Amino acid sequence: MKLKIAVLPGDGIGPEVVKQAIKVIKTIEKKYGHKIELLEGIVGGEAIDKYGDPLPDETWKLCEESDAILLGAVGGPKWDNLPGEKRPEKALLKLRGGFNLFANIRPIKVFEKLSFSSTIKPEVLKGVDFVIVRELTGGLYFGKPKEIRVENGEEMAIDTMTYKASEIKRIAHVAFKMAQKRNKKVTSVDKANILECSRLWRKIVDEVSKEYMDVNLEHMYVDNCAMQIVRNPKQFDVILTENTFGDILSDEAAVITGSIGMLPSASLGEGTKGLYEPIHGTAPDIAGKNIANPLATILSVAMMFRYSFDLEKEAKDIENAVDKVIDSGYFTQDLFTGNPYAKQLVSTEEMGDLVCKIIEGGA
Ligand code: IPM
Ligand code: MN
Repeated sequence: MKLKIAVLPGDGIGPEVVKQAIKVIKTIEKKYGHKIELLEGIVGGEAIDKYGDPLPDETWKLCEESDAILLGAVGGPKWDNLPGEKRPEKALLKLRGGFNLFANIRPIKVFEKLSFSSTIKPEVLKGVDFVIVRELTGGLYFGKPKEIRVENGEEMAIDTMTYKASEIKRIAHVAFKMAQKRNKKVTSVDKANILECSRLWRKIVDEVSKEYMDVNLEHMYVDNCAMQIVRNPKQFDVILTENTFGDILSDEAAVITGSIGMLPSASLGEGTKGLYEPIHGTAPDIAGKNIANPLATILSVAMMFRYSFDLEKEAKDIENAVDKVIDSGYFTQDLFTGNPYAKQLVSTEEMGDLVCKIIEGGA
């Protein structure tokens, strides 16, 4: 297959982890005889420093002509005091909104040997495997008005949560379809006791569920869900939720698995173009030290092969290689300390090389 991938390393540990993901893409390209063109672009804080714009036109164009986008992470303390429109994070929102990537898929999987790196008891974690389907282009992130203004001589800020029925409907379909391929359960998370958006959310999700009689639907308030994720995470199969709730719950869910450095994500729209990125951020405290865990980005590449290119075999190959590395006890620093299965501490680069070696070996 002939494929074009826009590669946007971004800030902090972004470039280091993306470098490893590129090695994996090249290894897969060679092994399966694909022709993959990588178009590198500048994004986030780096782009602000160079062009005064977190998503320069050049980068946008590059993404437009690509089949998929791989992103490291954006942001950092250096740009924290800029106004909303000029912040590195704005690039992400523009990509998500601009390409209409409304469905954010965040798989939460516990690797048994990593469960000792978690703050949760291993027996609570055993067998945890669920997916968060987060609505990504609506709610508080995009609603208008969104501004800071002066009223009666006092500063005040406003963010607006809005949801249209059509926005809820399309994301609900994504969640139910996913549940059909998994354990046939959707937990729709909202705050319907308080929010009008959530009441509409519940109504539409109930309606959509009638088209999926083989899938069990339950509704859960977001505060309860936050508690259930640490109390009994095994109960979940597919969590369906709106933008802000999904943002918060996915960090919580990610960290119970042992390290946020393990978890990938895909942002999809109606077509096949998708944005793939690790859930973790830029981790400025460890940037440039060659110690960050590149596996979340590598697993994001697996999702790219699955969802944008429909190349399941290649996706599985990458996922199996990651399973094997973890099984062998070669861990980056985030997973190493205090883990009885840890055999060898490896750097970011070494981890990337190990994964590639396993893929090459076809083991
Ligand atoms: C995420 C991030 C982003 C979000 C930020 C960086 C804009 O936290 O992908 O979860 O809030 O969506
Ligand atoms: Mn987040």
